[in-house]
Amino acid sequence: MTAHRDVSLGAAAVPRSSCELDRELLEQAIHLAELGRPGARPNPVVGTVLAMPDGQVLATGHHVRRGAPHAERACLDDWPEEVPADATLYVTLEPCSHHGMQPPCSELLLARDVRRVVYASSDPNPDTCGVGPAQLAAAGVRVERGPADLERLALQQNAGFHSAHLRGRPYVTAKWAMTPNGRFATGDETKRWISGPESRAFVHYLRAGSGAIACGIGTVLADDPELTVRGPVASRTPAPPIRVVYDRALRLPIDSVLAQTARTVPVLACCAYDAPLERELALRELGVGVWRAPAPNPGAPCMLASSLTMLCEIGVQDVLLEAGPELLDSFSDAHLIDALVAFVGPDDAPDDQPGLALDHPLVAAALAASVERSGEDSRHVAVLHPAWEIPGATAG
Ligand SMILES: NC(=O)c1ccc[n+]([C@@H]2O[C@H](COP(=O)([O-])OP(=O)(O)OC[C@H]3O[C@@H](n4cnc5c(N)ncnc54)[C@H](OP(=O)(O)O)[C@@H]3O)[C@@H](O)[C@H]2O)c1
Repeated sequence: MTAHRDVSLGAAAVPRSSCELDRELLEQAIHLAELGRPGARPNPVVGTVLAMPDGQVLATGHHVRRGAPHAERACLDDWPEEVPADATLYVTLEPCSHHGMQPPCSELLLARDVRRVVYASSDPNPDTCGVGPAQLAAAGVRVERGPADLERLALQQNAGFHSAHLRGRPYVTAKWAMTPNGRFATGDETKRWISGPESRAFVHYLRAGSGAIACGIGTVLADDPELTVRGPVASRTPAPPIRVVYDRALRLPIDSVLAQTARTVPVLACCAYDAPLERELALRELGVGVWRAPAPNPGAPCMLASSLTMLCEIGVQDVLLEAGPELLDSFSDAHLIDALVAFVGPDDAPDDQPGLALDHPLVAAALAASVERSGEDSRHVAVLHPAWEIPGATAG
């Protein structure tokens, strides 16, 4: 895994399209790519459109799941006739050049005599970035990149995939529900939830698209959560996300739902270097994985950052952080949150309930961006972290 490499170099040599029709068709491909979520995980979602210069769409395709044909092949399978010489193939990720579970798309495009290709984003793998487009260009195919704003959209669409390759850590989305006065719990036993059923259904969709769901031991002790994907999206989830608990002293109760179901859906407890060994053995008996921080006395950011590196190494590209205020604050402090999804309920809660101050950066960002959504149970907020930049995203 190579982190922090600028992959813009391979793409820089490829000219950008400035045609309005190209923009529309590439946007269509970006929408199509979404059909692959969450099934394609851990592969990127990719969409393809084959179209004529007047905008007539001949065929479309998207990557459905790992091991299934890539979007380019799905699209060209949908068009078995000869590809017209003036047709263009629009694809959201540059055509691959390597043999994986599927043969290289660059070879397929040459075999099918595609003469023009417009793609939105580059391959984040420095070893393969630009190779497919270069092979096509060398064979006389006109290869162009789409407009910079669509490149950015396509990068965000696969933020975890790009983050894992470029930064060596997963993309972290913090998700929480809060009251307008910044509280994370209602303090009312008759009213367990801050958000309503629509918001909670959306959370299952977010979970399904994540390689891991994480929380702190405070949440486990308070709520004994299951942290699984449930509801209609569950049947489309490729593999259940790992459940991660930040638990420095390994206090995870033996009778907690997480510990008791660890053999069905994996659970990983992230603890301090010197957490009690007998607790580790007891949890391992139940199938709970234990990851110890590498340093004897790690500062908070150090443990969190190294845990993300570890998660990336075991294939996790996206983490949905569903923690309480303490762990959220720690992640925020360590600048390890890339995106926020906050649900703001309608009613204040007593000030003695757990929460974050209204001027806390996470709460302030959520409140600033929140909008009333009529007919829904809570204001639903999604904010991309302003510091999130993918190297090369705006190059050229
Ligand atoms: N509204 C929501 O969306 C939502 C979501 C989750 C929870 N909650 C509510 O929040 C309350 C629990 O709050 P909480 O703040 O205690 O839960 P939490 O943030 O999930 O867990 C806190 C624990 O996280 C661990 N932690 C914090 N910073 C860390 C760091 N830098 N490195 C490693 N571990 C770290 C600590 O474990 P150690 O003690 O082992 O050091 C700490 O006790 C409950 O009332 C729950 O219902 C609400």
